[in-house]
Amino acid sequence: MKKFEKISFLPLPTPVHRMHNIEKLLGFSPIFVKRDDLLGRGLGGVKLRKLEYILRSALDNKADTLVTVGALNSNHCFYTALIAKMYGLKCILFLVKPVSKKDENNLFLNDIFSKNLGAEIYEIEEIPDEKIGKGFGIVSESTEREVWIKCKEVIEKLQKNGYNPFYIPPGSVTPIGCYAMIEAFEELYIQMHSLGINSYDIFVPVGTGGVFCGLWFASQLRAKDVKIYGISIGANDFLCNEIVKNACQQLCKKIEHTLFIPAKFDIFDEFKGEGYGIETHLSQQAIKIAFEEEGLFLDHTYSGKCFAGMLEMIRKKRGIFTKPIVFWHSGGVVERMGNIINTCL
Ligand SMILES: Cc1ncc(COP(=O)(O)O)c(C=O)c1O
Repeated sequence: MKKFEKISFLPLPTPVHRMHNIEKLLGFSPIFVKRDDLLGRGLGGVKLRKLEYILRSALDNKADTLVTVGALNSNHCFYTALIAKMYGLKCILFLVKPVSKKDENNLFLNDIFSKNLGAEIYEIEEIPDEKIGKGFGIVSESTEREVWIKCKEVIEKLQKNGYNPFYIPPGSVTPIGCYAMIEAFEELYIQMHSLGINSYDIFVPVGTGGVFCGLWFASQLRAKDVKIYGISIGANDFLCNEIVKNACQQLCKKIEHTLFIPAKFDIFDEFKGEGYGIETHLSQQAIKIAFEEEGLFLDHTYSGKCFAGMLEMIRKKRGIFTKPIVFWHSGGVVERMGNIINTCL
């Protein structure tokens, strides 16, 4: 398997610990949490892992500008702005305003932080159509087309003015971004192995599919006894499978490794509610439980929905859970700091 280099800026490994109170609550044990919410910069989050590898590609390409896309309040965009600032690069963000946030006029916390870090921001309203685009996983095909036209315009203008922009796809779902999650899996594998645990189930949120892809891929390479359960935070089951399959195929090509890729993964879409960024009754409950029982802060877009899905599936004995469980806390807490405080206290 081909290996890739990164620019190391994260304090790794992130801790893993038991959640004893959640175990008591569910009558199931052990349940661990992998603390990628403690990834060291800007309140942590799994997206930083991908950026270590992407930054290396950008710098190898002598880039002076990072250009990327996300939904309004995107963690990925905020972290791209942060890394650009740390490494003296210019940053341009295209932020899609989902239809569900049409009437909200303000930028959200992540966007404000990105702006403070010097990012140039272009807002694009989502164009609703029936087909959700594959590239983003969460917005329509028409929106994707529109974003790409605007992005190209700006990239060409930068190039004309002597800049060397580096484009990062939404959510860093590039093979290199997914590769970062192979390394992350290895990190957890070593930690669990040192506890004498080699067979377990992992719960992780599925947005643009890169995190799930990398973890699933690594489990197939390294430890088939480790099962990856994905909780969709916006897209339906069919689309999640498509985007993950696509990401896995691209990853195979990039790392020059063949692997059987199934048509269907263990991804569940019944906890997404009305879609991306819209909280559900269960995610609100989950955020409260995680804080009150374990002192963990979750967000309602990613980790809250994933935690809610995990709690429900264990409670209702969906899946036959007999092995230890790891909740992969992917971070995202900046998103609604104010809201989380209101919900919990
Ligand atoms: C906090 C958090 N968790 C999980 C994810 C999901 O990752 P992916 O988009 O690779 O599925 C994201 C993506 O932005 C995220 O910000």
